[in-house]
Amino acid sequence: MVGVIDRMIESENESIAQRKIMDNFNTHVIAWGGQENAPHDHCDALYDIPYVREVLEWYQDKCKDVGGVIVEMGCAEGYILDNVGLPDARRIGIDFSPGRVGRGRAKRLNIEFIEADFTTIEFPLADAMLMPGCLEHIYYEGVRKQIDKAIGASRGIVLFDLPWWDGEVNTFGSGIHLNPAHAWVCTPTRLDHLMQGINYNATFTLNKECVMIDITKGGILAC
Ligand SMILES: C[S@@+](CC[C@H](N)C(=O)[O-])C[C@H]1O[C@@H](n2cnc3c(N)ncnc32)[C@H](O)[C@@H]1O
Repeated sequence: MVGVIDRMIESENESIAQRKIMDNFNTHVIAWGGQENAPHDHCDALYDIPYVREVLEWYQDKCKDVGGVIVEMGCAEGYILDNVGLPDARRIGIDFSPGRVGRGRAKRLNIEFIEADFTTIEFPLADAMLMPGCLEHIYYEGVRKQIDKAIGASRGIVLFDLPWWDGEVNTFGSGIHLNPAHAWVCTPTRLDHLMQGINYNATFTLNKECVMIDITKGGILAC
């Protein structure tokens, strides 16, 4: 794991101008834009975008043997949760957007939706704890606490992805990162800091837009 992070840090090449963009980006206030109540908001078609599909397929691969409890923080309408794990897995999805949770419930999926702010709740026990595309919506300073909560509540694996910026890939131009806005972007240095002291096996996978992180605790996944 250290070797991988070292290589990522070596590849970090942020120019002064790019850093300025990032500093400005970090001053964004996390606020609702209201779009979460629009019918097209966070619709299933989002997962047809190639890099989003790649992320979905990564979660599918990591969860292919999970038949226990799968929990997702920031689950929106539940598309990822509905499409990962063994068919009989119990699925619990948590999101604080009333619009997304409402539309998810209306789909009558095999998902128990909980409308809540995941930063304020105790995480349910899980065999796979998923946090796809959601940790960038809270302030960086609070992220490690959520990762620790996830590790504490998972018997098996913890999976999350973060928008990735190594000085070349720019993740904040594509216009879908709203409601609430992103509060930070992950760089090699930040990833290194976030993972310090985590004594479980971790892997990192990069795609065009994000870094995908798998922390394996072990435990019995299939049942
Ligand atoms: C970009 S969407 C990701 C949806 C889904 N997990 C995926 O990857 O396709 C982020 C979701 O996280 C939710 N979210 C952000 N901050 C949250 C918080 N503090 N508590 C609960 N949900 C949150 C938003 O409402 C939104 O639905």
